[in-house]
Parts: sequence; C-alpha cells; structure tokens
Amino acid sequence: MRLGVLASGSGSNLQAILDACASGAIRAQVAAVICNVPGARALQRAEQAGVPAMLLPHAAFGSREAYDREVVATLRRQGADLVCLAGFMRLITPVLLGAFENRILNIHPSLLPAFPGLHAVRQALAAGVRISGCTVHVVDEGTDSGPILVQAAVPVLDGDTEETLAARILVQEHRCYPRALALWAGGRVRIEGRRVRIEGADPGATRTLSSPELSD
Ligand code: GRF
Repeated sequence: MRLGVLASGSGSNLQAILDACASGAIRAQVAAVICNVPGARALQRAEQAGVPAMLLPHAAFGSREAYDREVVATLRRQGADLVCLAGFMRLITPVLLGAFENRILNIHPSLLPAFPGLHAVRQALAAGVRISGCTVHVVDEGTDSGPILVQAAVPVLDGDTEETLAARILVQEHRCYPRALALWAGGRVRIEGRRVRIEGADPGATRTLSSPELSD
C-alpha cells in the first residue's frame, strides 16, 4: 500500500504514520507528502524520514479545483493508492474525491458525528461534554461526515483548556491513525453504506468506555 499524506501543520499524525510504516506495524510506505504551507513542520518530518515531500502552496492556484487537479496529478505520479488527510487545513473538492473515491481518510479531534468542522475541541468544551475523543473516517462530500473506521474516547477534565484537551486527544490520534491504516492494509475494511465493517474482528472483544465518574 502506498500512502499519499496531505498535511498543513506540525505533522505529528504524519510522524505517527511514518513511524508505524518504519516499524512494520503498517504494511505500507509513504509515497508522497503534500503540504500547502511553506515551512510547515510536516515537510521537515517527511524530509527527515527520506520520503518524497512536495510543497504545493494553495495561493499559487486560481481555484480549489485547480489545486486539487495538481494534488491528484502528484499523487498519481507517486503511485499513491490511499490518501491520508493529516491536519490538512483545506476543503477538498469533487476533483480529489472522485479520483480517490472511498480511498481518502481523515482524522478529526472529536467523537464524530459530534463537533464536525473547525475548532472541534473548542466546540466540545463549549458543549460541556464529559467525554470527547478522535475519529478516523472515510472522506465523503460532507464535512467530517463519512463512514467511521476507528474512534478513541478521551475524558474531558475539570479545568481543561482547548490546549490541554487537544493534547490529550492528540495522544489517541497517534494510536488511531496507524491502527486504521493497519486494518486497511490488512484488507479488513469493508465499507457498507454509512457503516464500516472490520473483518476478522473478535465479536467477543467489546469494551465499555465510560466517563470517569462511573468508574468509582
Ligand atoms: C489534529 O488534531 C487532527 O485531528 C486535526 O488537525 C490536527 C493535526 O495535527 N485534523 P498534526 O499536524 O498531525 O500534528
């Protein structure tokens, strides 16, 4: 499996993916990292790992569609067969969606379908939820609305700020994205309408996650 990773920022999820590929936890290689922000740490991480890194600044393109055409051309040139959005702060268009239908994944810092879109952690704090988390999902035409692959729950603690909660969620993101990719690389993911079935999952392995109060 050849991954094309799109990132805009620090690239810590990219790093988790690179590490999991290097350790053999995912049977895949990162074939391309595309970044739209000059100087982003994600680019340095890609270069350090020795994987092809491309800066494609969106300002150089006249429309989102023109940008996505270049992204698709780059991904194809590098032989990517699965696209991972990893903190890519751009809306993608049907140009990219159509070229990689059901083969684009995203990670989002909430338990979707709660708090889609921007500032998910801020939204969770404002709503007063006791549990939030992160979600790896297949990208469809909506905002953070596609079929869900992997989620992890994270407690919201009294006194949490956007920064402290985001940091606690990020730790789980770094587990969830490689896990989702390992399942995908193992051919175990079946998309059935809105739902994803993980083949070979142990039906007895149900875990209950509850808010901290309930564990006393
Ligand atoms: C993560 O919180 C991810 O969920 C969101 O953007 C952030 C990216 O962080 N989509 P990083 O660039 O992977 O460190």
